[in-house]
Amino acid sequence: MAAAEQKPSHVILTLIPIFLLLLYALFAVSPFLDRKLSVSATVPAAAPPPLTTEKIDVRRNASGGLEKIEEELARARAAIREAIRCRSYRSYKEEEFVPSGPVYRNPTAFQQSHIEMVKRFKIWTYREGERPLVHRAPMTNIYSIEGQFLDEMESGKSPFRAQTPEEAHMFYIPVSVASIIHFIYQPVLTKKDYDRGRLHRIVDDYVGIVAGKYPYWNRSQGADHFVVSCHDWAPDVSKDNPKFYSKLIRVLCNANTSEGFRPARDASLPEVFLDYGRLGPVQPGGSDPSNRTTLAFFSGGIHGHIRRLLFERWHGKDRDVQVIERLPDRSIYMARMARAKFCLCPSGHEVASPRIVEAISVGCVPVLISRNYSLPFGEVLDWSEFTVTVTVERIGEIKAILGGVSEERYLELFRRVKGVRRHFAVNRPARPYDLLHMVLHSLWLRRLNVRL
Ligand SMILES: *[C@@H]1O[C@H](CO)[C@@H](O)[C@H](O)[C@H]1NC(C)=O
Ligand SMILES: *[C@@H]1O[C@H](CO)[C@@H](O)[C@H](O)[C@H]1NC(C)=O
Ligand SMILES: *[C@@H]1O[C@H](CO)[C@@H](O)[C@H](O)[C@H]1NC(C)=O
Ligand SMILES: *[C@@H]1O[C@H](CO)[C@@H](O)[C@H](O)[C@H]1NC(C)=O
Ligand SMILES: *[C@@H]1O[C@H](CO)[C@@H](O)[C@H](O)[C@H]1NC(C)=O
Repeated sequence: MAAAEQKPSHVILTLIPIFLLLLYALFAVSPFLDRKLSVSATVPAAAPPPLTTEKIDVRRNASGGLEKIEEELARARAAIREAIRCRSYRSYKEEEFVPSGPVYRNPTAFQQSHIEMVKRFKIWTYREGERPLVHRAPMTNIYSIEGQFLDEMESGKSPFRAQTPEEAHMFYIPVSVASIIHFIYQPVLTKKDYDRGRLHRIVDDYVGIVAGKYPYWNRSQGADHFVVSCHDWAPDVSKDNPKFYSKLIRVLCNANTSEGFRPARDASLPEVFLDYGRLGPVQPGGSDPSNRTTLAFFSGGIHGHIRRLLFERWHGKDRDVQVIERLPDRSIYMARMARAKFCLCPSGHEVASPRIVEAISVGCVPVLISRNYSLPFGEVLDWSEFTVTVTVERIGEIKAILGGVSEERYLELFRRVKGVRRHFAVNRPARPYDLLHMVLHSLWLRRLNVRL
């Protein structure tokens, strides 16, 4: 490899993501700039005549409660602004973890925001509806994060659970797209029935019921309501009635900006493959850099355009860039990742892939190969500081690009990957700064961005 070839690739590699992230930080989610989304206050001035006394009460109480909620959010925003100004956080108790370093866009703002979230944030999960399409989602396998989040919020132990809807800052619509596909579609999928109408009807019915029964959806037009799903089809839930759902916050693994994912309003959910009954990082330690003898590693299915390109170019062609089909044994798969310096994370059927979290958990530097993927926790984490991005067009240059990363830079990336690991670990119950807390924090930031 000629030095002349490596240099530009390295410069482009670092400059393009920085430029894009700057743009993103300025125009996308910038809660720390306190951008006000245009949600008009729709709390009705007078109770409509045909309602029963009890319902009018709920309505009045709810609007009364809203002032308190908004005051509280205003205090949280002020505390975050103050922390940014003083460059130090404020807390009533000793903080066990203090974010620092370049992987955080603004470590102090993040810390203060997390402190405020733990102190205040309450979410009401609607009780309506029957299992298994609502209140139940997969807890294992590829869609596991959908079920883990739901279970965390419904199991009763989460401190983020609101006791009454009046005290809630946000409202969780507990429908599971993965369950709907499993129970409604899969039996007929063999007949190739992909008509999305049934998915739309189930979600519309649910939202219609809670919007008719309680004042909360109407008062914010859904701006403080959210759905969480890891299924590929999840972005579709709002497609049938885009105007009605335009303010709904969708927390999605399939965070494809060219399929309608809106980084300023929606939140990107990491995809996590959980073995049956297994939680947390699969291999906590991750191998020491000196034991990482493979430059780049990928193992997985050949689905999607990007993977096909990757296999065409690298499958069985190079000792340093190992691209192989799916390994049947998961522990061998994880061990191979733990022996690689870089782990290739190309998009497959959808933009997200559990590989990113897997790579991070074994200390392998993720190499992101995707298009239009809005990365998880991007409003807090600066991904360019702990991953490498290779554009789809440059898949053929993977070896030159990764070989061109200096040992010093690699060790820096390695240390940072180990540093962000806590943000990608799934704990039950959730712990401060872990993956579920980060998802909650994504929601919290989006709620801070809205004033009702
Ligand atoms: C509404 O508030 C009033 C007074 O604060 C209280 O007596 C009443 O029980 C509340 N109603 C509901 C449905 O919470
Ligand atoms: C919310 O708005 C819809 C549509 O305008 C209406 O049918 C529903 O009754 C309203 N909900 C409440 C609780 O008033
Ligand atoms: C998607 O990615 C392509 C290629 O990088 C880019 O040209 C396009 O503008 C992106 N679209 C959106 C909606 O971000
Ligand atoms: C490297 O791997 C070997 C074999 O798995 C192990 O015994 C050794 O402790 C590892 N070295 C380091 C520094 O992690
Ligand atoms: C993202 O969305 C675009 C537009 O629908 C699609 O062409 C592309 O394949 C999607 N990306 C992935 C990885 O699925």
